[in-house]
Amino acid sequence: MTLPSQMKALIQLHDGYSRTQTGPNITDLAPFLAQDEVAVPTPGDGQALIKVDLAAVNPSDIHFIKGEYGQPRIKGTPAGFEGVGTVVAGDTPLKGQRVSFFATASGAWAEYALTDASTLVPCRPDLAEVDAAGQLVNPLTAIAMFDLVKDGGADSFVLNAAGSQLGKLLIALGRDRGVKPIAVVRRPEQAAALKELGAAEVIVTGELDPLGAAQAIFKTLKPRVLLDAVGDQFTADLFFAMPSHARWVNYGKLSTEPPALKELGQMIFRGKQIEGFWLTRWMKQVDPARIPQAFMEIQERFVSGTWKTDVSGIVQLSQAMTDLPTVLAQPDGKAFIDPRQ
Ligand SMILES: NC(=O)c1ccc[n+]([C@@H]2O[C@H](COP(=O)([O-])OP(=O)(O)OC[C@H]3O[C@@H](n4cnc5c(N)ncnc54)[C@H](OP(=O)(O)O)[C@@H]3O)[C@@H](O)[C@H]2O)c1
Repeated sequence: MTLPSQMKALIQLHDGYSRTQTGPNITDLAPFLAQDEVAVPTPGDGQALIKVDLAAVNPSDIHFIKGEYGQPRIKGTPAGFEGVGTVVAGDTPLKGQRVSFFATASGAWAEYALTDASTLVPCRPDLAEVDAAGQLVNPLTAIAMFDLVKDGGADSFVLNAAGSQLGKLLIALGRDRGVKPIAVVRRPEQAAALKELGAAEVIVTGELDPLGAAQAIFKTLKPRVLLDAVGDQFTADLFFAMPSHARWVNYGKLSTEPPALKELGQMIFRGKQIEGFWLTRWMKQVDPARIPQAFMEIQERFVSGTWKTDVSGIVQLSQAMTDLPTVLAQPDGKAFIDPRQ
């Protein structure tokens, strides 16, 4: 196959970090990205070049392009952490195969992405394109964090931003493995769907006395792990309302509000813990055998329908600068970028 020398991509306009904390909402991409024609990257030792079919847009991508994520931006490099496509060149026996990938060297919001060949995940032929494009960031995090929940030993757990794609994957895992999910959301219209999905209880933050409702639920269900993507004051209040030995596992910062830790003594006298979870770190620390095992489960779950990707829209790469913010503003679904058009 002859490869072109140039490709369309959404390239980053800045290097490094911004030192702001504005959260994952975005109404205008232009301060951070530009659509441009750039050279198709050349794979080096241990790398693979992928012709991208579809790329996901996750909150981490938006934190990243704004310079608010855990790794520095590189000006002139395409953005986009994950996607699906075909391996077209590189140092790998997977040439010609459809794979999901983390774009470690040149981003997924482009016609071609470059990555470490070791991160490639071959896809079953019956795995739908949207499931394959978003197979890594959220599904692997759901599996990894559910391991934490199981290690905690309780038969219930608390999760906020429960209507997010990741929240819905976690609720389904809890449902299927007999660990009751206590879901926290901010929009009452999400409650019925999350109960139907498998949430044992739903707490709506905007309703009258949500902390009182949580305290009553915690008395009965005694959860020990709080999976938190929000990090606001209500999250801190929830944690301090949880039983002794509870763990607050923060894995996202959807709110820009800094919480006050009003009962820090609980860490001393009631054995509570606050910690962070980052998939990038987990992948380096976990037993390497856990990762292929997790991808077998992930693909089986999507194909069998026990997990589902809710799609708010697929944007053509050539229209993304104008159309992506509108699709991202729609609730209850993921946005994707299609670089083929
Ligand atoms: N640490 C890691 O390794 C890791 C890995 C994967 C994902 N994550 C994090 O997981 C989170 C969920 O990701 P996703 O892709 O599943 O998200 P998503 O599908 O895009 O959904 C985002 C959700 O966040 C809710 N939300 C936004 N701002 C909020 C706020 N201020 N207060 C309460 N809820 C808020 C939204 O609720 P509404 O519908 O009410 O707007 C929506 O349900 C993100 O924070 C992401 O960065 C972390």
